[in-house]
Amino acid sequence: MAESVAEPIASLYVHVPFCARKCLYCAFYSEPSTGEEMDRYVAALIRELERVAADLRPRTIFFGGGTPSLLNLRQWERILRAMERLRLSGATEWTVECNPATVSLDKARLLRAGGVNRISLGVQSFDEALLDRLGRVHSRQMAFESFDRLRQAGFDNVNLDLMFAIPGQTLEAWRATLAEATALGSEHLATYEVIYEEDTVLYAQLQAGEFAVDEELACAMYEELLERAAAAGFRQYEVANFARGTTLHPQPATLTLPSRSCLHNVNYWRGGSFFGLGPSATSYVRGVRTKYSSNTQLYCEQLERGQRPVESRERLAPLARAGETAAFGLRMVAGWPFEQFQEVTGYDLRHEWAAEMNQLVEQGRGCILPDRFQLTQQGLRFADAAAQLFLR
Ligand SMILES: C[S@@+](CC[C@H](N)C(=O)[O-])C[C@H]1O[C@@H](n2cnc3c(N)ncnc32)[C@H](O)[C@@H]1O
Ligand code: SF4
Repeated sequence: MAESVAEPIASLYVHVPFCARKCLYCAFYSEPSTGEEMDRYVAALIRELERVAADLRPRTIFFGGGTPSLLNLRQWERILRAMERLRLSGATEWTVECNPATVSLDKARLLRAGGVNRISLGVQSFDEALLDRLGRVHSRQMAFESFDRLRQAGFDNVNLDLMFAIPGQTLEAWRATLAEATALGSEHLATYEVIYEEDTVLYAQLQAGEFAVDEELACAMYEELLERAAAAGFRQYEVANFARGTTLHPQPATLTLPSRSCLHNVNYWRGGSFFGLGPSATSYVRGVRTKYSSNTQLYCEQLERGQRPVESRERLAPLARAGETAAFGLRMVAGWPFEQFQEVTGYDLRHEWAAEMNQLVEQGRGCILPDRFQLTQQGLRFADAAAQLFLR
């Protein structure tokens, strides 16, 4: 996965910074916007695509946000046409994130015809009261209807985003959402324990003492998730990601993955390069990390002047980058094969991080196999803490 200078980049992320309304927990960069601003963004994005096209042959594409499905048919047509013209459309996996309030059959068909072959649907919960509690713009009914429309439009690879440990959510309510979600028959589940991000309404409510965090309940919900997902035929391949399918991918990098895993995210977790376009996006290209400013107007202005809206740019020291790569990759159930890690980073886990691996083994959170290091089920539950140990 370590790219040579001549080899084009194989992964593209596009950030679409618009949402109908801000959810109470969300700190991703996005805001409500006018149609005119969205048109301007689309034009700027196409300029960026033109800039990177020569150095990009995408195997995976991910349009995230924000709410990419908020763009209207005409705006999507412009993007899809530009992707086609620039020969960027033929990715193995092309995902678009959708909010259930914004999926019409026409839009789903347009995306499918344009080469998009995977949808990530932000369901979060099938409990009407919890959807309200989170400030979601859609109802449970809309989530079911959107899923049907996606199938009708020909999408056979659909992910559902679900959240747990939501304030007020009972174990029973989580069980009910899991039962309804697994019954839908999606190919993938991405689950998220609520994170209290600063500058969100939910965080302010927590600070004001309106509710308390119940760690024990969150653990019970995670256990329930593991059980229900397995019983429904999903395989866990990352801390909180589950996929169907048994076909093995040919590359050794993904040998132990279910076939419906999100290949785009696997590239992140394995330390691969990617271009990130759109306001607030990060790129990691041949050892250099570039971050764009979280300001859509500035993003458009700069691109209209032929400039890039770069907020920061750094070349990470090789050991620091290797530490990050170790931390990310350990989120995967397959852990890090020693050889592959060395190929990607130039470092040997067994030399550089022997003490940390042994510490995790002693705590029952890690496991050293002949060819790899991986976290145990208990280690995966506390993957963030384990990951900290590897940072340099
Ligand atoms: C960037 S959002 C985009 C999805 C889409 N805009 C939607 O919400 O319908 C991706 C996912 O991140 C999760 N997420 C966002 N903020 C979170 C938070 N503070 N805690 C836990 N999960 C969060 C949600 O599950 C969401 O579906
Ligand atoms: S969770 Fe999705 S819809 Fe809600 S504010 Fe964040 S990006 Fe927008």
